[in-house]
Amino acid sequence: MNTFYQEVIEGLSRPLKRISSKYFYDDKGDELFREIMDLEEYYLPRCEREILASHGADISDTLSQFGPKWDIVELGAGDGSKTVELLRQLTEDGICGTYIAMDISPYVLKLNQELIEKQIPDIAYEAIPGDYFETMDQLKAHKKPKVFLFLGSNIGNFSPKKVKTFMEQVGGVMRAGDKFVVAFDLKKNPIVIRRAYNDSKGVTRRFNLNVLTRINRELGSNFDVDAFDHYPAYDPIKGVASSYLVCLKPHTVTFPGGENFEFKRDELIHTEISKKYKFDEIGALAADNHFSVVRHFTDDREYYSLSMLHFENSIQDK
Ligand SMILES: C[S@@+](CC[C@H](N)C(=O)[O-])C[C@H]1O[C@@H](n2cnc3c(N)ncnc32)[C@H](O)[C@@H]1O
Repeated sequence: MNTFYQEVIEGLSRPLKRISSKYFYDDKGDELFREIMDLEEYYLPRCEREILASHGADISDTLSQFGPKWDIVELGAGDGSKTVELLRQLTEDGICGTYIAMDISPYVLKLNQELIEKQIPDIAYEAIPGDYFETMDQLKAHKKPKVFLFLGSNIGNFSPKKVKTFMEQVGGVMRAGDKFVVAFDLKKNPIVIRRAYNDSKGVTRRFNLNVLTRINRELGSNFDVDAFDHYPAYDPIKGVASSYLVCLKPHTVTFPGGENFEFKRDELIHTEISKKYKFDEIGALAADNHFSVVRHFTDDREYYSLSMLHFENSIQDK
């Protein structure tokens, strides 16, 4: 049984059924996600682009105050269309070493390499395919100063427990003085946030439902995909946006290994969370994991932050 199969079975066996958001990204999911990035309501990538455009030179300048050359490791690199601007700036300023793109999707990694090498022909490029939780240890042998990038506010998609594991794991392959540039979506008017996950064209709906189509195709199950709908919710106090699939009619889903799951009408499958942060929460998260905040780079409306964290500890000290 492969990990995908095992994790889906484990998630559907819970009292509140769930499917991990990392399984959204088959080729269709990648394509739909890129459509989401262009949606009017989905403000996040525009904010990130604004920050990279208006603070790219600032980010480069801040890094050069700490050291002359940086290898750039991007976790969940995606198609590279946002990162390319920052890489260009760092290259122009002469501080860009090797760019190491890590992503679980081979399709997206190929797009990334094509784009980056076309736009910055002189860049030293390396790709590490696979789940970064499994591949990250390969970086332990890497001794040059590094900046890790974790863009797209992907940190918001982790549960609090997983954020802790993730920060520890990144710290585990860092050396003292390495930097971690993390994108955080900030708390703001909840109406703006709710709209971002419930777009008028229904792309987010198709993206969410696509995970069931993928599971049917790759794992041999028989979800009646038309018997589910997309349900987005936002809790402004906790700052958590959640996506669910809601079952519209009772049915039984079977898997080739003999597992059966009864779905009642109105039953939910939890598929994704997206946590929104305040600056003090970012500071606390950093401090809890041996990082300190160098600076928060934000867009004009303070919807979003690229927060540069400095790693205090060293793998040799552990
Ligand atoms: C939401 S996209 C963001 C892409 C890019 N960072 C951006 O901001 O535009 C998430 C990316 O992370 C990748 N990804 C998700 N989970 C991953 C994992 N566990 N290991 C490696 N890549 C992962 C996906 O394939 C996808 O390309």
